[in-house]
Amino acid sequence: MRIFKLLVIPIAMAIGITSCKSQNKTVAVNKNNKELSIDQKVNALLSKMTLEEKVGQMNQYNGFWDVTGPTPAEGDAAKKYEHLRKGFVGSMLNVRGVKEVRAVQKIAVEETRLGIPLIIGFDVIHGYKTISPIPLAEAASWDLDAIKKSSEVAALESSVAGINWTFAPMVDISRDARWGRVMEGAGEDTYLGSKIAVARVQGFQGEDLSDKATIVACAKHFAGYGFSESGRDYNTVDVGTSTLNNIIFPPFKASVDAGVRTFMNSFNELNGIPATGNAYLQRDVLKDQWNFNGFVVSDWGSIKEMIAHGHAKDLKQAAEISVNAGSDMDMESYAYVAELSKLVKENKVSEEFIDDAVKRILKVKYELGLFDDPYKYCDEKREKEITGNKAINEAVLDVAKKSIVLLKNDDNILPLKKNGQKIALIGALAADKTSPLGSWRIAADDNTAISVLEGMQKYPNNTLTYAKGADVVTGKTEFAFELKINTTDKSEFAEAVTIAKQADVVVMVLGEHGFQSGEARSRTNIDLPGVQQELLEAVYAVNKNIVLVLNNGRPLTIPWADKHIPAIVEAWHLGTQSGNAVAQVLYGDYNPSGKLPMTFPRSVGQVPIYYNHKNTGRPTTDNPDIVFWSHYIDESNTPLYPFGHGLSYTTFEYTNLNVSKLSDTEVEVSVELKNTGKYKGKEVVQLYIRDLFASVTRPVKELKGFKMVELEPNTAKTITLKLTSKELGFFNNKGEFLLEPGDFKVFIGGSSYTTLEADFTL
Ligand code: NOJ
Repeated sequence: MRIFKLLVIPIAMAIGITSCKSQNKTVAVNKNNKELSIDQKVNALLSKMTLEEKVGQMNQYNGFWDVTGPTPAEGDAAKKYEHLRKGFVGSMLNVRGVKEVRAVQKIAVEETRLGIPLIIGFDVIHGYKTISPIPLAEAASWDLDAIKKSSEVAALESSVAGINWTFAPMVDISRDARWGRVMEGAGEDTYLGSKIAVARVQGFQGEDLSDKATIVACAKHFAGYGFSESGRDYNTVDVGTSTLNNIIFPPFKASVDAGVRTFMNSFNELNGIPATGNAYLQRDVLKDQWNFNGFVVSDWGSIKEMIAHGHAKDLKQAAEISVNAGSDMDMESYAYVAELSKLVKENKVSEEFIDDAVKRILKVKYELGLFDDPYKYCDEKREKEITGNKAINEAVLDVAKKSIVLLKNDDNILPLKKNGQKIALIGALAADKTSPLGSWRIAADDNTAISVLEGMQKYPNNTLTYAKGADVVTGKTEFAFELKINTTDKSEFAEAVTIAKQADVVVMVLGEHGFQSGEARSRTNIDLPGVQQELLEAVYAVNKNIVLVLNNGRPLTIPWADKHIPAIVEAWHLGTQSGNAVAQVLYGDYNPSGKLPMTFPRSVGQVPIYYNHKNTGRPTTDNPDIVFWSHYIDESNTPLYPFGHGLSYTTFEYTNLNVSKLSDTEVEVSVELKNTGKYKGKEVVQLYIRDLFASVTRPVKELKGFKMVELEPNTAKTITLKLTSKELGFFNNKGEFLLEPGDFKVFIGGSSYTTLEADFTL
């Protein structure tokens, strides 16, 4: 009965309100009376709400089981239920499954005075139960359709579990492989990152938010989180204006343009002001300049953390600063619910700010259709039918194959022959059915990924022998807990060496456990963890025919492997279908097409290392005996594998680069791409520019276009890409977008290290 009341009140109120404001509108409204706009409905509902109920909408609580942040002392269930019943909760996160969501939604809808439904948030980062590759891996596919599809199936599978809001995509650009959260982003490049941000937002939100298979997306973390000093998570951020405008902001702006409905602010400070309390970021840039009309949620406890930052003296002041700065919803700080009403009464916070925040939140709830049917995501039949179904698994397998990057393939050791081969498979990760699920896989069950061992067993005409060699981790592996890495136990090396001796080819799956990257997983050493490097060398001593399959959530430093191992396959943490994807690539049933979205350093000392760096005043030297140039005395400046690098089983040749000026602000670039190898294959043609002289210096190369092209052997195609002022310009330090006339270079090829170049002048 309460649902019925809920539908009636806003409509009746809205008519009242419009008749005060605009007679004409009222007529229109009365004629098509269900055509009340969402804004009218929101205003009507708002006018019924007490201050405490408004503040309640701005309060988000974690559920009762899963925890994705430090547990606050006040977080007891009894208090949460009491607040739910009073209408003091607008959203919950980490409540999942139809039964559980229905239970909390029922309280909000049927037991509170106004019956406003909850919006249910969850970290659907790379899948829900069926897990896609980690986002960094998906970025390596450069395949925007596959990425969009992956978000689409994640939205579907989570929506049938009662969820209607994901805290994704993370669109933070990062250049620091030490930072564990690089696994959750699209890598180091702002152009690629912006395209992927759009694909993900569109995938989650679809064309119509009120469709029950789509969910609200959230661009996070606004802003600068990917630049945490020394790669240590939650650390201070200190970036210049040019980097902020040209590198950090664009993927967020692209998300707004793609219609993302929510933003999450970040834990870090920016120029001394924590992002959560940063009015420049949230009000000036996001809401005013970019016209974002969705809402901003804080990160977990980030309002309260402003006390530790040294910006607010207590929870009350933290609430005051955050709401004034434009943070609309409080995730797990318990600050708004405790302090906001008082702050309004004391005139420290204007009720207009509260109204603005609540309107934004209600608007999104209306857009989702929650007021029409608060239980629309709570259909047990759909949950059963859709969770883990074939179509979802096919989509994640497809993107998993496309995410794999072939880093090295000397003497064409890959693809493996399908018959008559003795293959030794080595490494704890090769048989692991949990690690490939990665870090953000809270709803997925352990042991549900296809392992590489299982994937390879599907090729029965070879003899496959498996040995673990050594554990990567010892003890429990869980999202919230530190891992224990095996740094001592080599007792099973001998068995691995024995099977390697007898094999034609050795496949070694080594790298990071899924919980070694992700939130709060920063590393100072990004080599192969534990005893795995020693295992690799021990096996190499008896058989050099090794294919190294890497599992990792960040670039690793593997100079020894690069020097000695003939084939290296970057297989990240690929999710539920991991082993099938790896096996299909190793056997050539899928010809690898991925390209690195992040630079692999030679040494952790080079980090941050990224392709689009500045030239500096001393970029090279004519005399290497003299020290005075920008370099290291113990390591080269170049990376081990550059951004954009990735091989195929076939080869491609680029010729006939042509640049034609279409106007003063537009240039067309064409190149001929030929498949010169033996296999059909896909190539990501990458276009870079360099603006040689500018009022604010520009990077040595900037990605400004790419195209995925598939070619049969011995065929060629002319590829054309256009550069407009959008690609040729940049932001100055006042935040103005400029296209400065002058000399440019254009580069085209299969990686950021391409040397095929041409010049043009604007
Ligand atoms: C903290 C993380 O920074 C954020 O990305 C995530 O969405 C929230 N916790 C909720 O789990």
